[in-house]
Amino acid sequence: MQNLYWKILFQPLMNRRLGNESVQRLRREVLAQVYGEVLEIGFGSGLNLACYPPGIRSMNAIDILPLQTPHPASGIRIQYQIMSAEKLAFPDASFDSVVRTFTLCSIPDAESALREITRVLKPQGRFFFLEHGKSQNRCIAALQNLLNPFYNILACGCNINRDMLKIIAACGLTLQTSKVDQCGLPFSGLYFSGIAVKKGDPC
Ligand SMILES: C[S@@+](CC[C@H](N)C(=O)[O-])C[C@H]1O[C@@H](n2cnc3c(N)ncnc32)[C@H](O)[C@@H]1O
Repeated sequence: MQNLYWKILFQPLMNRRLGNESVQRLRREVLAQVYGEVLEIGFGSGLNLACYPPGIRSMNAIDILPLQTPHPASGIRIQYQIMSAEKLAFPDASFDSVVRTFTLCSIPDAESALREITRVLKPQGRFFFLEHGKSQNRCIAALQNLLNPFYNILACGCNINRDMLKIIAACGLTLQTSKVDQCGLPFSGLYFSGIAVKKGDPC
């Protein structure tokens, strides 16, 4: 039943919202500097594919769900694996770029997932992110806390009240750039994007 709800209602709505032009613009902005060996975590329906710079010809992608087809056409060769972000089956220091968009909100153990990113990044590798999260406005943040238990059920495990920049900074990563944009309803449309490096790497 939950699977049917995901497939027929939630996923099409989510793709529509996360695939609209203002969100695609944010994706292009944050992914413009992706380079080298790339890992995308929480690949979903491949909405990032159209937003990678032209130099990217191949990448690894993981998700807990099987690959959804069709996904947007691109010249990028994808090595897809079903895998949990909390336990990546890649050796230490494997990737120059790790990309994750709109996924930390629904990963049950966000801290483990970020430590895994730190582990698989090469020295001087970069983590590119775009997430929605907790508002910096105290009234909206309180509303998000209130609504989250209901939203979490309706939105298949997504949380609207995670303090994204704080969680990222607490897990062995240093923010190199970060930006906040409002695209949609105040309680769910506050988007945090940026680039982080491993602690100790030059920013
Ligand atoms: C909201 S969708 C975002 C998809 C895509 N990244 C985008 O920006 O459109 C979240 C994706 O994260 C995946 N996901 C959730 N928990 C995960 C986990 N623990 N490990 C890997 N992927 C996960 C879901 O299956 C889903 O495809």
